[in-house]
Amino acid sequence: MQDDKIPIKEKPYNYPQDLSSPCTLRERPPNSEKLLLVKTSFATHTTLIPATNETMASGKRVWLITGASSGLGQEIARAALAHGDMVVATARDTKNLASLVSEGAIAEQLDVTSSDTILAATVARIVERTGTIDMLVNNAGYLLTGGVEEVSRDEAEAQFATNVFGQLNVIRAVLPVLRSQRLGVVANMGSIGGWVGMPAAGLYCASKACSSLLSDSLRAEVAHLGIKVTVIEPGYFRTDLLGSGRRVRAGRRIEDLNPGTTGTHDALAAYHGHQPGDPRKAAELIVEALTGTGRCVGRVLPPRLIIGSDAYRTATEVLDAQRQIMDEWRDLVTATNYDDVAIKA
Ligand SMILES: NC(=O)c1ccc[n+]([C@@H]2O[C@H](COP(=O)([O-])OP(=O)(O)OC[C@H]3O[C@@H](n4cnc5c(N)ncnc54)[C@H](OP(=O)(O)O)[C@@H]3O)[C@@H](O)[C@H]2O)c1
Repeated sequence: MQDDKIPIKEKPYNYPQDLSSPCTLRERPPNSEKLLLVKTSFATHTTLIPATNETMASGKRVWLITGASSGLGQEIARAALAHGDMVVATARDTKNLASLVSEGAIAEQLDVTSSDTILAATVARIVERTGTIDMLVNNAGYLLTGGVEEVSRDEAEAQFATNVFGQLNVIRAVLPVLRSQRLGVVANMGSIGGWVGMPAAGLYCASKACSSLLSDSLRAEVAHLGIKVTVIEPGYFRTDLLGSGRRVRAGRRIEDLNPGTTGTHDALAAYHGHQPGDPRKAAELIVEALTGTGRCVGRVLPPRLIIGSDAYRTATEVLDAQRQIMDEWRDLVTATNYDDVAIKA
């Protein structure tokens, strides 16, 4: 290296780490006991809500869970209730929340693709009832299958409208509440599918990769406000996700693509009901991880909470393979700076 070269220290990218200890809502900042301002630029009114309500006094966390009518969302709601917290379970059709209501949850109608105005009004209604929201689990989602070229524009947009923009819509509606109290957790539901693009599930995998990266950015943006953000990345769990009633298959079939896509269609159909992951166990872990309780006392909530032995294995394989490819290409791909730029190892 010549001395006159511009020194650039190339550091591996580090995820922003939490500066605070795991979320303990009994340790609210003093001013959160005053008034909670529920106001978004989309809401037609501003609501001032006393934060010294029963929920806060009792130290219960308030959970808002989307897509709680079944599967992981329903089990997370159950685990949070068992944890002694207050749960607002939401679904497109509240009839599907009857069993959770009988177990103590509050039901609210919420479609994550609704307009900002509707979602802001829903959140204001929830806060009026519960006093606040502490834990947002952005869980709603579905699986669209089909080759990348087979998926129509409408099908692709619908997949992203729920899995990506749906999460963003809910985040925009709920974050003002978390920011006003300088405390809270946002957990977006990603997938191990966000680590590797599976044939015939490209749009789903891409939507989950989006969810993970948006979570990374949001995490860094709100850490100083006492808000923790993570993305949950499960492997295969035995829910209705792969069932023929839920899984949406692209309408168009391109025969040319069959050798690349048929295997996934057949495997997903055969796997339904045989997935290794137990949603109840995942939910218990998720609640402990997000609240820093039970087995997770003293652990820092990771940027990505990979769940399931299959997911752990896949992520490890992806990392190892990526590392090997990077090492093989290192000499060439790192030789593209201007000649006057020096790189310190
Ligand atoms: N199970 C797995 O193996 C697995 C693996 C990785 C990631 N995930 C993710 O985990 C999340 C939950 O899936 P699951 O496995 O529990 O499947 P699930 O039983 O099919 O649950 C999906 C939930 O999402 C809801 N939903 C779909 N579109 C919605 C919308 N527009 N607005 C509100 N809710 C909507 C559904 O509600 P409705 O009753 O209204 O349809 C349902 O409650 C999804 O994001 C999924 O991608 C699951």
